[in-house]
Amino acid sequence: MTAREYHDRTAHSPASVRTSGHTLEWDIKPFPFKVYSDLPAIPLPREIDPPAIDALAALAGPAPAAPKLGLGELTAVLYYAAGVTRKKTYPGGGEVLFRAAASTGALFQTEVYVVVSAVSGLEAGLYHFCPGDFALRRVRPGDVRGALAAFAADDSLARRAATVLLTGIYWRNAWKYQARAYRHLFWDSGTMLANLLAVAGALGLAPRLLTGFVDAEVNRLLGVDAAREAALELVALGPDTAPAPVAVPLEAVEHATLPLSSSEVDYPLIRAIHTASSLPTADAVRAWRRPGGPHAAMGGDRPTVANDAGARVVALPAPRKQVGRGLGETIQRRGSTRRFGHAALTAEELGTALWAATRGLEADVPAGLIDLYLVVNAVEGVPAGAYVYRPTTHALELLAAGDFRNRSAYLCLEQPLGGDAAAVIYFLARLDELTDLFGDRGYRLANLDAGLAGGRAYLAAYAQGFGASGLTFYDADVVQFFSPHAAGKDAIFVTALGRSAADGRVTIDSNLTLRGRPSA
Ligand SMILES: Cc1cc2nc3c(=O)[nH]c(=O)nc-3n(C[C@H](O)[C@H](O)[C@H](O)COP(=O)(O)O)c2cc1C
Repeated sequence: MTAREYHDRTAHSPASVRTSGHTLEWDIKPFPFKVYSDLPAIPLPREIDPPAIDALAALAGPAPAAPKLGLGELTAVLYYAAGVTRKKTYPGGGEVLFRAAASTGALFQTEVYVVVSAVSGLEAGLYHFCPGDFALRRVRPGDVRGALAAFAADDSLARRAATVLLTGIYWRNAWKYQARAYRHLFWDSGTMLANLLAVAGALGLAPRLLTGFVDAEVNRLLGVDAAREAALELVALGPDTAPAPVAVPLEAVEHATLPLSSSEVDYPLIRAIHTASSLPTADAVRAWRRPGGPHAAMGGDRPTVANDAGARVVALPAPRKQVGRGLGETIQRRGSTRRFGHAALTAEELGTALWAATRGLEADVPAGLIDLYLVVNAVEGVPAGAYVYRPTTHALELLAAGDFRNRSAYLCLEQPLGGDAAAVIYFLARLDELTDLFGDRGYRLANLDAGLAGGRAYLAAYAQGFGASGLTFYDADVVQFFSPHAAGKDAIFVTALGRSAADGRVTIDSNLTLRGRPSA
């Protein structure tokens, strides 16, 4: 199994959606929280100080480093990344607990763990965060930062005060999305990382993202059943502290957890692509990340086109750097727009969202692995049409003028959101080039980069008072629509932007999957 095979075998087309025959078995819908049943809950403080910094200022860059990481800051990071922010009760009794970050199908398969040493109020150990009861449970006692540093081939993790680890539970998403769920692990952990990096940065915790690590060892450290749940990304947080003692051998942890559902369906394709994109040893991680290796070759924020000759370019106004709405309030208000009105965005609003989506980041991989194509339906000063965004010059290059509302709705799996939005960002990547450079793990990076960019676009939208929604899409049709410019690329993810048609708070009724509809 290669990334290319996985990607092609999980592509959506009108034919694949209509003939899939997949129906949702509500009796076995997975429970949305992981609950360790034999570990005592350590309640987190219920009073959280929202990061008061302006949301756009937070996206612009991190605050100066703070001297310590306390329980209050850690709690804020966990809440604004993965906490329950809204509850919706449906007629008939169903209830969904919505979270700080958007997640495909509101299935919330991304789990959060944290390794801590020097966080005042917490003993050293590896903890699992449960948003359901807003508590930590200690999965491993003791300072395990040395082991984590060894498995991530990065000594700094042995000194940083804490490291957050995100995992994905396959079945919780595959219940609805089948084998395509593997893509969603990275889209959804990406939207969560958008929040996490913004909040941790605003609190001066100098977050650093690590995407390379020895998968099997990190999964063993976490004590997860690697056939069903896998580590996706690590984020180091907080100041340097006294380094961890030399890594000690880790005993197996096997804590009981509540079952996800009474039966599970295995999707071998998911396990196959995860294995293919895993790194087997710390040396392999180091080689993957070596200076002058793939990372240098990609060199972040590259222009999407080199040649200006004949291109019709719309310069966007400078992005807003301040908007008056705090980061905490922005995340608290976020919720995917369920129906867009046709009201226009300003060019400055759109430009600010595009700027936010393409911010760099402190990571073991370069940013800018994906290209942003757009369908513009209603943006003041920008004629309707298809465009590609150039981050280096903050401009849109026109590919085709015209009204593409219907086409965009079609491309987004025939969902009206894709046609009603003011603008729709289509994230595309040179997948073959990425997998040549990064191996099959490049596939994870492309999906993560797009999820993170989409998550940042969500934040920029809600900071500015309009709405956003992630969307899925017909793979080949998207590439064809933006070709010849996009020829040879692959569609990775979509985010729609616009003003909600609903008054006040967005409604979320259409999040529920109606029987007989394609699984969007
Ligand atoms: C990666 C991603 C893809 C999504 N795709 C769709 C989609 O195709 N159609 C849709 O209506 N909503 C889509 N959504 C929105 C989710 O349904 C929504 O995030 C989820 O129900 C949680 O609700 P909230 O974002 O309002 O908190 C997507 C969200 C994400 C993050």
